[in-house]
Amino acid sequence: MEVLTVGVQKGGVGKTSTVFALAEALAQNGVRVLMIDLDPQSSLTEAAGVSAETASIAEALDGRAELRDIAVQLPTGPVLIPSDLELAAVELTLANRNASEFLLTDLLTPLQFDICLIDAPPSLGRLMINALVAATEVLIPVTPQIIDMRGLRLFHRESISRAQHRRLNPDLKIFGVLPTMYDPRLVHHRQALQAMKKAGFPVLDITISRAIAVAEAGATGTSVVTYAPESKPAKEYTQLGKVVKKWLRNRA
Ligand SMILES: Nc1ncnc2c1ncn2[C@@H]1O[C@H](COP(=O)(O)OP(=O)(O)OP(=O)(O)O)[C@@H](O)[C@H]1O
Ligand SMILES: [Mg+2]
Repeated sequence: MEVLTVGVQKGGVGKTSTVFALAEALAQNGVRVLMIDLDPQSSLTEAAGVSAETASIAEALDGRAELRDIAVQLPTGPVLIPSDLELAAVELTLANRNASEFLLTDLLTPLQFDICLIDAPPSLGRLMINALVAATEVLIPVTPQIIDMRGLRLFHRESISRAQHRRLNPDLKIFGVLPTMYDPRLVHHRQALQAMKKAGFPVLDITISRAIAVAEAGATGTSVVTYAPESKPAKEYTQLGKVVKKWLRNRA
């Protein structure tokens, strides 16, 4: 099973929105998708309309449940492994456990989906390391601001390189940098995009437009792909889904 971790330590850049929309776009294309909410804030679980009472990934990381027992089938196609606040407490216990970097990788081994998308938390802690160790590749959303490039460099140096070099995941690759909340009418957005490319970051050809429909979808239990299929971001996420599906075919 291919694992695409959507992450960067910076908050509010569209990680959760990207996981959900990409998952729905792939599911509409016949791809069997598993989504893992690995953020104690549980934004993805909430966006999917799944109750906070449901068993969560915290119980699986703690050895009290298997992922298949806590998986929730969503009406729009993807299957979700929910999160809750208990995950924050479990993350603290990971520091004292042996080989805790591989917990998520081991939990994923028996599952059979075409792809697993991980919504990583906005931090560089143990959960993020688990998300990077389990990953085939990393998709990095960034908002087009010059200041975000610093976060991008830090993530690359502190997280991705660490996972690669410490022999935790030597084959880890970057799928690409995805500019989110992009508005091509804004000069500083265009400049930031150019600057990222010039600095050598592998910026994808697809950008995700800024549109209120993405935020509105948050209250409907679906992503923008289902909520507003004719909107620009929905079409862009569908396009991204095609690129990811092609990547899956090439890896098969
Ligand atoms: N393309 C977009 N256009 C407009 N608003 C967006 C877009 N993408 C995301 N948003 C909004 O921006 C906010 C942050 O998005 P999201 O929760 O996906 O980011 P995140 O990186 O997962 O945040 P966190 O770091 O808190 O987990 C949300 O309110 C979301 O609805
Ligand atoms: Mg999030």
